Amino acid sequence: MDKFIINGGKKLYGKVEISGAKNAILPIMTATLLAKGKSILHNVPHLNDIKMMAHVLRVIGARVDYHDGVLEIDATHASYFEAPYELVSKMRASIYVLGPLLSRFGQSKVSFPGGCAIGTRPVDLHLMAMEKLGAAIDIEHGYIMANAGKLKGNDIHFPKVSVGATANALMAAVLANGETNMFGAASEPDISSLIDFLIIMGARIQGKGTKYIKVIGVKKLEPAEMIMMPDRIEAGTFLIAAAITKSDITISKCEPSHLETLMEKLRIAGANFEIHNNEIKIISPKIIKSVDVTTGPYPGYPTDLQAQFMALMSLADGESVITETIFPDRFMHVAELNRLDADIKVDKNVATVKGVKSLSGAQVMATDLRASATLVLAGLAAQGQTEVSRIYHIDRGYDKIEEKLRKLGADIIRAKE
Ligand code: EPZ
Repeated sequence: MDKFIINGGKKLYGKVEISGAKNAILPIMTATLLAKGKSILHNVPHLNDIKMMAHVLRVIGARVDYHDGVLEIDATHASYFEAPYELVSKMRASIYVLGPLLSRFGQSKVSFPGGCAIGTRPVDLHLMAMEKLGAAIDIEHGYIMANAGKLKGNDIHFPKVSVGATANALMAAVLANGETNMFGAASEPDISSLIDFLIIMGARIQGKGTKYIKVIGVKKLEPAEMIMMPDRIEAGTFLIAAAITKSDITISKCEPSHLETLMEKLRIAGANFEIHNNEIKIISPKIIKSVDVTTGPYPGYPTDLQAQFMALMSLADGESVITETIFPDRFMHVAELNRLDADIKVDKNVATVKGVKSLSGAQVMATDLRASATLVLAGLAAQGQTEVSRIYHIDRGYDKIEEKLRKLGADIIRAKE
């Protein structure tokens, strides 16, 4: 296992390029199962979650090749409709094959995802959507068994915004007979990107970026080619890396409109921004002001940037309150930040962060993807040396983060545990 060794206290400078968005790419990869032929995705980063999804697709019978950021998926000979436990237990996003498999084969068998480091994550809304579209669902021996024959369009009301359930419902509805109307759908950029891809494949979808999405089922889809959108969470992580080290850096190849809520919070914390097309320059505050944050569905503050913002607030001048409404238990990073001398208390889904003058380096352990990134950010700002162990979590979702940070002037190396 690898770890990061970080010597904190260095200012960052220069420019960093943002990679393609993992959480947009994963459902698009499974959408390729909806057509026979080869789909081509550009701007795909080298990430373990993407490798894992490629593995899931190969098990289903697709041919998957990856080279130089280009992912080619040929689903012509896909013939197996199962996502086994060994894979789903390693990556929950494997549930994204449920809708496409049901649509293509009229049946699917997907291992029931278990718990995960950020809390209980039910899949009832995915199942409800499939049932609305005509599938019969049984849970047998830890597997979701879905059978449908031909899916039929219907109205689907989501009682809660779910990115994953919206994606699965979309991928099932595009080839269903008739119209599907989704109410309370997710409007995250990842969903808009999936809709763009499905439309290139020949799907008929209206309402992209809104909570009401209408799908008019078509008979057949074709393979497609698309450039993957930039990762707003990676971009946000680098903006916070600059703010926490009081540095001015530029992030390029990003989509500024996806980062408005974060930039608003960083402005209140004292940062300024210069935005030109796909570049954002952050001019960081000399003194970090405390800001309260409540996570919410897009365009609300993203839960995937909650932990990173908490690291920043741990060095703010004053007290801030961070409320997590998406995954109420997503606070595994708190104990580790406190090991670095932060002063954070958690009560249910609310963290109260008392800003301290400085953090001090220590050995800490990554518990999930965003928590790992948070410990790296805290390590960059801390005095002395920080060792972050179990960084395999970070390799799931950040492409060569240590190399990108080193180019910005950080003192960070990867070493064997
Ligand atoms: C996606 O997870 C992302 N994962 C998560 O990113 C992200 O945190 C999350 O959306 C919220 O933005 C991927 O895109 C692969 P949800 P997802 O369904 O789809 C509840 C990261 O760090 N819910 O939108 O699983 C759920 O418990 C990861 O990159 C149900 O109750 O999230 C939560 O409270 C972590 N029943 C809320 O909805 C369901 O059937 C939103 O979850 C499904 C969800």
